[in-house]
Amino acid sequence: MSEKIAPANFPDTAAVTLDIDGTTRLFDIDEPDLADWIKDNELSAGDYPYDKAMKKKAFKEEFDKLQVELVRLQDWLATTGKRVMIVFEGRDAAGKGGTIHAFRENLNPRTARNVALPKPTETERGQWYFQRYIQQFPSHSEFVTFDRSWYNRAGVERVMGFCTEEEHERFLHEAPLLEQMIVNDGIHFFKIWLDIGQETQLKRFHDRRHSILKSWKFSPIDIAGLSRWDAYTRARNEMFEATHTKHAPWVVVRSNDKRRARIEAIRHVLLAIPYTGRDLDAIGEPDKKIVGEGPKLLT
Ligand code: ADP
Ligand code: AMP
Ligand code: MLT
Repeated sequence: MSEKIAPANFPDTAAVTLDIDGTTRLFDIDEPDLADWIKDNELSAGDYPYDKAMKKKAFKEEFDKLQVELVRLQDWLATTGKRVMIVFEGRDAAGKGGTIHAFRENLNPRTARNVALPKPTETERGQWYFQRYIQQFPSHSEFVTFDRSWYNRAGVERVMGFCTEEEHERFLHEAPLLEQMIVNDGIHFFKIWLDIGQETQLKRFHDRRHSILKSWKFSPIDIAGLSRWDAYTRARNEMFEATHTKHAPWVVVRSNDKRRARIEAIRHVLLAIPYTGRDLDAIGEPDKKIVGEGPKLLT
């Protein structure tokens, strides 16, 4: 067993028994060597449609073109005053933070803002649930990303019991109403669900546990979530059922391979906004095995 590295609030860990696709597995996150059954399935987990990750060179070529387009998009936002808001959701370790980073890499941070709210304070708990999120909505010309969002209520809060069943149910009814108002106000609004397989998640948790650079991403919630894969699946499916709407559809991006995921997420947004100077050849065609609207790509 290796020493735990930093931070002071590092969660307590223990080996857990998991049922993965009908096979019982023992997962000990403290074990420095990653088990073969995780290594072997890290990419293929959840019937991922590719057996190789995208090569760096191919990625870079497409990524660089998309970055130029994102800058053009921001330029258009600056001249027209239009607004973009993108909600990123997904299980722990789905790659939300990294994907947001990929969007923002070359954008002017003054008008490209990321929102990653911590758990609600006492005051916020006394407010209307949506209130603290609404305060963060874009002003003119802003490109705002949300690393997690009001959808916490449909995921972590539901599964970990941070809200009541009644609150959860009301949320599922009300989120589409809120989103109708967002869209009515002219905001270009996106909800991106990054979907990963179970072994992919275990691999990433393991990396976080054993890397000093990633350990800040590792939380007690991740540990508690380890054995709640199925509860999160149920919660996710209910969420899609209630909140995948015509006016605010969910975009699913299969994310076992981070490179493909980043390209498809950015491409989707660029194809949905008719900004001045848009170069459709540079953006390219979506890979329908990786990206799609609604639950059909969910694992
Ligand atoms: P992240 O995955 O965003 O790095 P965590 O794994 O620590 O962060 O937590 C997952 C989510 O659960 C966060 O959005 C956090 O705000 C939320 N959360 C944690 N504890 C509570 C709580 N007691 N009540 C409501 N939400 C909570
Ligand atoms: P368990 O996996 O049994 O520890 O349950 C984890 C959490 O899942 C509990 O807090 C339950 O409230 C929650 N849960 C139960 N049913 C559902 C459901 N249909 N959708 C989402 N979460 C649920
Ligand atoms: C992610 O990797 O999906 C998030 O940014 C961090 C987390 O899930 O803990």
